[in-house]
Amino acid sequence: MTLPLSADVVTRELRGKVLLVTIDHPPVNALSADVRRGLLAAIEAADAEPAIGAVLLIGAGRNFIAGADIREFGKPPVAPALPDICNRIEACSKPVIAALHGAALGGGLEVALAAHYRIAVDGAKLGLPEVQLGLLPGAGGTQRTPRLIGAQAALDLILSGRHVGAQEALALGLIDRIGTSDDILAEGLAYVHELLAAHAPVRRTRDAAALADRAASAAAIATARAQTAKQSRGLFSPLKIVDAVEAALEQPFDEGLKTERKLFLQCLDSPQRAGLVHAFFAEREVLKAPETRDAKPRALNALGVIGGGTMGAGIAVAALDAGLPVTMIERDGAALARGRAHIEKVYDGLIAKGRMSAEKKAATLARWNGSTSYDALAHVDLVIEAVFEDLDVKKAVFAELDRVCKPGAVLATNTSYLDIDAIAASISRPADVIGLHFFSPANIMKLLEVVVPKQVSVDVVATAFELAKKLRKTPVRAGVCDGFIGNRVLAVYRAAADALMEDGASPYQIDAAVRAFGFPMGPFQVVDLAGGDIGWAARKRRAATRDPQARYVQIADRLCERGWFGQKSGRGFYLYPEGSRSGTPDPEVEAIVDAERQRAGITPRSFTDDEIIRRYMAAMINEGANVVHEGIALRPLDVDVTFLYGYGFPRYRGGPMKYADMVGLPTILADIRAFAKEDPLFWRPSPLLVDLVERGADFASLNHTAHA
Ligand code: 3HC
Ligand code: NAI
Repeated sequence: MTLPLSADVVTRELRGKVLLVTIDHPPVNALSADVRRGLLAAIEAADAEPAIGAVLLIGAGRNFIAGADIREFGKPPVAPALPDICNRIEACSKPVIAALHGAALGGGLEVALAAHYRIAVDGAKLGLPEVQLGLLPGAGGTQRTPRLIGAQAALDLILSGRHVGAQEALALGLIDRIGTSDDILAEGLAYVHELLAAHAPVRRTRDAAALADRAASAAAIATARAQTAKQSRGLFSPLKIVDAVEAALEQPFDEGLKTERKLFLQCLDSPQRAGLVHAFFAEREVLKAPETRDAKPRALNALGVIGGGTMGAGIAVAALDAGLPVTMIERDGAALARGRAHIEKVYDGLIAKGRMSAEKKAATLARWNGSTSYDALAHVDLVIEAVFEDLDVKKAVFAELDRVCKPGAVLATNTSYLDIDAIAASISRPADVIGLHFFSPANIMKLLEVVVPKQVSVDVVATAFELAKKLRKTPVRAGVCDGFIGNRVLAVYRAAADALMEDGASPYQIDAAVRAFGFPMGPFQVVDLAGGDIGWAARKRRAATRDPQARYVQIADRLCERGWFGQKSGRGFYLYPEGSRSGTPDPEVEAIVDAERQRAGITPRSFTDDEIIRRYMAAMINEGANVVHEGIALRPLDVDVTFLYGYGFPRYRGGPMKYADMVGLPTILADIRAFAKEDPLFWRPSPLLVDLVERGADFASLNHTAHA
């Protein structure tokens, strides 16, 4: 017998005494309003229909349920609410069994926890990742999970947001059984029939007793609270999670649910939730560059890397880790040996930390091959050049690549600033040339700017995105200009920070204010980490073309002239006694800053931290707007992802453009106009910003139109 469908996204079918309820809502079976309605109707039918002995919940496609529908957050709520659905499932008078495959995350796991029995197959991913969206599990997860698996395990799961596989879920007690095959329907049905045959009773998680040891549970909660206060500084939802789990211990179940709801709504209303949800969608949107839709990637089976320095070695490690064979080219045997040693150092570090075995290192390095002859690159599908940042040197390298590489090989440069159109135009196959701008350390940092020159063929761009996927990088499409998206914007807010310093804020106050905003490091700490000499070289290179009217703060040059390049030289803006990596403020630097103020005829004034951030962010946002305006970034969200993944922008603020929308573009523009009174050349409002303010629009309005 087939019961009438409640909604297409949840189908019901009676199989003997079992009501098979299938959630079929692509792409990931998120719990949208129709799904919630369908589930409710299914449980009501199960209660009402005497022929039904049990209910089996299952997901169609690749997942059980990926959670609440994230797109509904921030919109007016639509009944029925998910917590009510979960309560209704749990209250069902017939056994409800959830059969889990693929993602059973967030609200998806909460539905499963409200069911009476759970089976999962290998490959299932269970978790409560709400914390990553600035939320807490809001459909009973904070109340049922600790009752089922104990406070400590529940807190670990909910605070980390990590996914656990079927084996670990079984060990934790989240599920009752693991299926022996990956046929989720067959496994689920077999389990239900077994339960029916055994007259298994309805068994409600709300009555589970894993919190029975009250003292141990309270201790776990106290420890989690202390650790969370330290480790999740600046984040809103983690401490709310601890409060909610504490309610599971302190309050009766129904009261605890009310507490959870109250805390969930506070998180839902927080700007952090808006920032984190924006980040979630933005990091998926960046994958949808026009070329990835219009073209197929070329083959990517073997890689070449030119240069074994900081970047070449890091890129080689990223590729080796992804299982790709790498051929490295260096200038001579000694440089090649150094390149190889750079790579080995990374793996030796992992071995020392117990995160890699010597055998694994050997197996990984077996994919590495070094040469001083370009002819060794004849077979590779893609080459990444990471030699000195000098156009002539790079052109010479590309001439060699043009000579030796097979037709169709992708020829990429990791240049930070140079004109890739000029590099492409210098060889016979400009359509194969692209920018792949990695960030240091290249085996760790997630961002990959895919820099698209004029003449490049679309399938080369698609190949770059495919490489990013293989290397587990987050690609952002960028156009050619000095610094592409990230470094171009960086140059501008660095200049704003320099001006603030010369006008009266100390570098230490600026760094502290930027850290308090949520960045892991301030701009002057970053200079010390990267090496002051790198920026110095760039400034000298640009000196000839710099607008003589533009303000130029010389403080950093004064430090470099003394050989104070930062961590590597033991001092920069900070002192690094005996190789220490966390610097201490240096009174001599403050004296140099003072002297420079005098030289420039500036009477120092004081800035509040808020004033510092307003200038820092206004500079970043304004240049971000220029980058979008000029088409260097496809959309504002591409700027956001660049800063989230390459520059330590706090994820809970969503990125600079999202942050601007949340502050309000009129406020940002008013700030820029106010700052322009002091330095009109630097603070020129971006035409895009002005236009958006005039139209009453925001950056978000541009995020969905780029390839419509
Ligand atoms: N709601 C709405 N859309 C979702 C979604 C969700 N929960 N999860 C994924 N999507 C969308 C993605 O945006 C993407 O859309 P697009 O194709 O238009 O870009 C599409 O589904 C496919 O997603 P992925 O590209 O991420 O697919 P993968 O196969 O790589 O990964 C996944 C699948 C592991 C399920 C991953 O999408 C994921 O982690 N999703 C989010 C899980 C999550 O955070 N759940 C908790 C939600 S909050 C909650 O449940 C609150 C509750 O406690 C009340
Ligand atoms: P590096 O100086 O550490 O390494 C450069 C390497 O290239 C040296 O080992 C050198 O021997 C080798 N080399 C030079 N000419 C060569 C040639 N003709 N053939 C083969 N090898 C040659 O420099 P780094 O920092 O690795 O930078 C490399 C490139 O990556 C530059 O274009 C730089 O702008 C860019 N980049 C650097 C970042 C960083 O943080 N260091 C970040 C992103 C990009």
